[in-house]
Amino acid sequence: LAVMVVTAGVAVAGTLDEIAKRGKLRVGMEPAYMPFELTNQKGEIIGFDVDMAKRMAKAMGVELELVSTAWDGIIPALLTDKFDVIMSGMTLTQERNMSINFASPYIEIGQTVLVSNKIAGEVKSYKDLNDPKYTVASKLGTTGEQATKRLIPNAKYISFETEQEGVMEVVNGKIDAFVYDKPYNVVAVGQRGEGKVTHLEEPFTFEPLAWGIRKGDPDFLNWLNNFMYQVKNDGTYDKIYQKWFQD
Ligand code: ARG
Repeated sequence: LAVMVVTAGVAVAGTLDEIAKRGKLRVGMEPAYMPFELTNQKGEIIGFDVDMAKRMAKAMGVELELVSTAWDGIIPALLTDKFDVIMSGMTLTQERNMSINFASPYIEIGQTVLVSNKIAGEVKSYKDLNDPKYTVASKLGTTGEQATKRLIPNAKYISFETEQEGVMEVVNGKIDAFVYDKPYNVVAVGQRGEGKVTHLEEPFTFEPLAWGIRKGDPDFLNWLNNFMYQVKNDGTYDKIYQKWFQD
């Protein structure tokens, strides 16, 4: 009983209080995912999520620290308190939502396909790739990987650790197709694939992207959702969007 009384009387400090006390917001991301987070030639991490993170820290009145983290360890890193929030173009999936919380989604995207020009005449949709004669790639631990395994199960699947390797293998004609988030594929075609790959631009999945936090922290979740409401309605979001997206 004594324990219960003590527990009930103590306000459990949430992440928001810790950020304020620390004077710093720590954001986890894997900066290889254009245009959300990428590393420029000067070695700086830039992108849509980075601009949002800067606004967020400013609104909190604290400094910002970007914590660069490998994609396949990003949820464990959040859970072991390496940073406060994942802002990394993460798709809100029901499976991930079992272990972490998500703020309200900030954008909706879907999977698209980059196909080698060698087979572009015969492959007009992701469905045409569903044949053992085709090799299809995506990135380890992503929704692109999940979608390929689920919706193109008969193709030979290869997993890459980086988005860039997957794109280059299609550009060089070593594999037939690369399945990934549409915004990434749009930028990749413009940068390295022009004339070498064909982008089947019609998304074939529905994926809301959202910021991820640890479970059991309603104060932080409330702050993030209200921040989102503010920036979506005061022009901030649109300004950042137009900076990073052509359409
Ligand atoms: N939206 C995809 C997913 O959640 C890919 C995100 C990859 N993000 C990154 N920063 N590498 O699985």
